[in-house]
Amino acid sequence: MKSHVVTCRGVKKDYGSEASLVHALRGVELEARAGELLMLVGPSGCGKTTLLSIITGILHQDSGSCKVFDEEINHLTEREKTLFRKNHIGFVFQTLHLIPSITAIENVMIPLILNEVDKEEAYDRSVKMLTRMGLAHRIDALPSHMSGGEQQRVAICRSCVHEPQLIVCDEPTSTLDHETGSEVMKLMRELVVNESNTLIVVTHDTRIYGFADRILRMDDGEIIGELKNSH
Ligand SMILES: Nc1ncnc2c1ncn2[C@@H]1O[C@H](COP(=O)(O)OP(=O)(O)O)[C@@H](O)[C@H]1O
Ligand SMILES: [Mg+2]
Repeated sequence: MKSHVVTCRGVKKDYGSEASLVHALRGVELEARAGELLMLVGPSGCGKTTLLSIITGILHQDSGSCKVFDEEINHLTEREKTLFRKNHIGFVFQTLHLIPSITAIENVMIPLILNEVDKEEAYDRSVKMLTRMGLAHRIDALPSHMSGGEQQRVAICRSCVHEPQLIVCDEPTSTLDHETGSEVMKLMRELVVNESNTLIVVTHDTRIYGFADRILRMDDGEIIGELKNSH
């Protein structure tokens, strides 16, 4: 029996108030197991990004429990959360959040520098990661000089370069063509298998379902079932 990296129980989250109240999450039950690639799929607006934000401690749920590596993430102070993320979690936001004024490699180096990895080593590890993602020739480019797909791959490199135990990706292939999307998922799949970490991927992209160990369907703020279970 594999241990659980993420356990959500009855997670609820509303936005707004009174007339404009939105029930974004209505009691989410979810487990992510160590070493698996778990996909979360569902229509736009069903609460996927909200759920990822709670799992990563960016948002606080209104009720219910969300444990990540046995820590009730929202019981941590802001400072503890920052430390926890820095050490254990990598993410790719839907809106990438690359820093526009620095190069691709400098963006990728950020988590390593934050973790006080020596600068030379941080550089070498970042080159390796960018090379794996097919971006060896683009390391010195500014994000604004890169295509959407290249930027997405830089964001993915930044999320995994410090080898976090949990990587969370919000629509990582949405701007990639089929071939690049598959290539990126293949590399991410290898990270999970080889380095025994866990990956949660939110996606709309049916073309990448084959890379998942499990696929959970989400609708209207709830997990409503499982699409496939190959293990
Ligand atoms: N900051 C916010 N304020 C108000 N409503 C929000 C906010 N963020 C998301 N929502 C609403 O919550 C619901 C879930 O949104 P979201 O988690 O972004 O869904 P998804 O990622 O599946 O598209 C949607 O109805 C959305 O409009
Ligand atoms: Mg979203």
